[in-house]
Amino acid sequence: MSVRGLAGRNIVLGVSGSIAAYKAADVASRLVQAGATVDTVMTPSAIRFVAPLTFQSLTHRPVVTDLFDPRSELSIDHVALARRADAVLIAPATADLLSRMAHGLADDPVTATVLATAAPVIVCPAMESHMYRHPATQENLERLVQRGVRVVEPAAGRLASGQHGIGRLADPGLIIGTVRQVLGRNGDLSGRRVVVTAGGTREAIDPVRYITNRSSGKMGHALAEAARDRGAAVVLVTAAPVGPETAAGIDVRPVSSALEMMAEVQAAVERADALIMAAAVADYRPAAFSSHKVKKTQDQWELRMVRNPDILASVRTTAVKVGFAAETQDLRENALAKLKAKGLHMIVANDVTAPGSGFESDTNQVTIIDRSGRVEELPSLPKMDVAHEILDRLVTLLP
Ligand SMILES: Cc1cc2nc3c(=O)[nH]c(=O)nc-3n(C[C@H](O)[C@H](O)[C@H](O)COP(=O)(O)O)c2cc1C
Repeated sequence: MSVRGLAGRNIVLGVSGSIAAYKAADVASRLVQAGATVDTVMTPSAIRFVAPLTFQSLTHRPVVTDLFDPRSELSIDHVALARRADAVLIAPATADLLSRMAHGLADDPVTATVLATAAPVIVCPAMESHMYRHPATQENLERLVQRGVRVVEPAAGRLASGQHGIGRLADPGLIIGTVRQVLGRNGDLSGRRVVVTAGGTREAIDPVRYITNRSSGKMGHALAEAARDRGAAVVLVTAAPVGPETAAGIDVRPVSSALEMMAEVQAAVERADALIMAAAVADYRPAAFSSHKVKKTQDQWELRMVRNPDILASVRTTAVKVGFAAETQDLRENALAKLKAKGLHMIVANDVTAPGSGFESDTNQVTIIDRSGRVEELPSLPKMDVAHEILDRLVTLLP
């Protein structure tokens, strides 16, 4: 089994003296909740914005604030943290810190750690727009990128000065997702291209109404994240809204209807190694779309529906195909028939009426059936764990 996400990973969180330093506390908390061990290292300016005690309390670890503090881990062994790190994340990174990093300085706990580590380094700049756009800052960032540092671009919006522009610290979810991607870059799906579909398609009746189903997209999004975290280049064709942690490092193609999903899947799958269809694609769509809102002039309204194409059966690809079967009865028989009819390599079946399973739920209880007829019934698991179980089997099917 591969290492999954952040559990058991050592992350050094570098915090510098930006007004966004308080947001680093949220990042630290999320990393800890995801199972990582977090060592916080702060610049002398950073501790003027947020007390080290905040990070100490959230991470349950001592915080390093002074390169020369005789009680700190850095002064005992000034490269110990750097050596132990699986990743060094700097959030927020000031313009000044980026400049010092670009020039290879090591005069504070953060830059000293960066210089001493062999682990991947991720920086999340946060500053006023003019500081960010300044050629000096851009040149420093370029230099860092050339050295292999990963940059999580700041967002545009309202800045502390009251001005609007680029420079806000990236969303914490996007930062965490990027750390997960960076940690998994040499995983067992490294170099592979995986296309995942998710969500329930929406079949429009008129500009204000549509027919859909209860799929939340959670299973498909978990699969896309898990594949990313194992090193795959992932295209996610989704009919469900995508959160920042899912979107990090994933090529997200939002779609609405089954026909749109089919076009995106066909385009994406041409160079893919695997296609995982976790979307709940509507079997039928309204026969006609009314460009005006249908008025309530009649007592009854009969809506004629036509069949949507079957994406999995009709898509032209050499990729390994994994399908899902959401059933309410005769689970195994229906799933096996679907596997054969659609030429799948593997099918994941779940009884969507079972408690703790199926739509909207955070857990799923699935049965995995492969071409050879092998049937594996898994216990009820969080959807992320189900995703990894599916990928564990997918890996063995890839040429
Ligand atoms: C109130 C205040 C807010 C600041 N916010 C930022 C900021 O968001 N980004 C930035 O690059 N610098 C900011 N600075 C300037 C840095 O604190 C300053 O350049 C400092 O030298 C950075 O030190 P460090 O990189 O070692 O943490 C701010 C300064 C003050 C006084």
